[in-house]
Amino acid sequence: MSKGVFITLEGGDGTGKSTQIKLLQQALSAAGVDVMTTREPGGTRQAERIRDLLLQRDSGNFDPMTEALLLFAARREHLVEKIWPALGRGQWVVSDRFADSSRAFQGYGMGLDMRVIEDLYRMVAGDFQPDITFILDIDPELGLQRSMRRHAAAAVTEDRYERMGLAFHQRLRDGFREIAKRFPGRCVVIDATQDVEAVHGAILGNIAARTGVRLKETQDA
Ligand code: TYD
Repeated sequence: MSKGVFITLEGGDGTGKSTQIKLLQQALSAAGVDVMTTREPGGTRQAERIRDLLLQRDSGNFDPMTEALLLFAARREHLVEKIWPALGRGQWVVSDRFADSSRAFQGYGMGLDMRVIEDLYRMVAGDFQPDITFILDIDPELGLQRSMRRHAAAAVTEDRYERMGLAFHQRLRDGFREIAKRFPGRCVVIDATQDVEAVHGAILGNIAARTGVRLKETQDA
């Protein structure tokens, strides 16, 4: 069906995901790959509206099933309006989070039955899966310290999930590792305590090995 390559980056808070996505985009562009970056929840106008509902600090709490429904509604918009058309045109798509975040956050983190999540997944995405998923792995204590520092500096209010506490984030980390075991064909776990260059190099090495595209590390990593 699709001709492009769909790459997702996943992990807990403070793993340096956004930095890695920027570097990856630069490295792919430099290699002549037509690449689009996007994010979840969000990525399209309508999906970003759902994101606002979910992430603002004053949103209050949703029932986990409601939360999953909203996330998968946003995901459906994202797939239909943006991801599938881009892949169909041969573009590569790099997404900051995708469905593994629902498995980890709503499933492992909030205790929603994984069968519900898989049913929703099949409904909105069918058999479609990312080609490669990088799971940036870090001790949650260290990750939370990093992201709280960043958010305080930027006066960010989109922090409803970050404020959920250490036990929640430990479940997330364990959950992501379980997900990697469940989908070994597409998931690669990367030690996010390494420095930025090393993580970037590991990501590029994997992509090159899987796709045959020759990539050079972005110099300003
Ligand atoms: P964001 O500010 O992008 O966080 P991060 O920098 O950690 O990626 O906010 C996305 C938040 O939404 C993040 O805390 C994870 C959460 N989320 C879910 O709970 N389920 C999902 O399916 C997705 C895509 C994200």
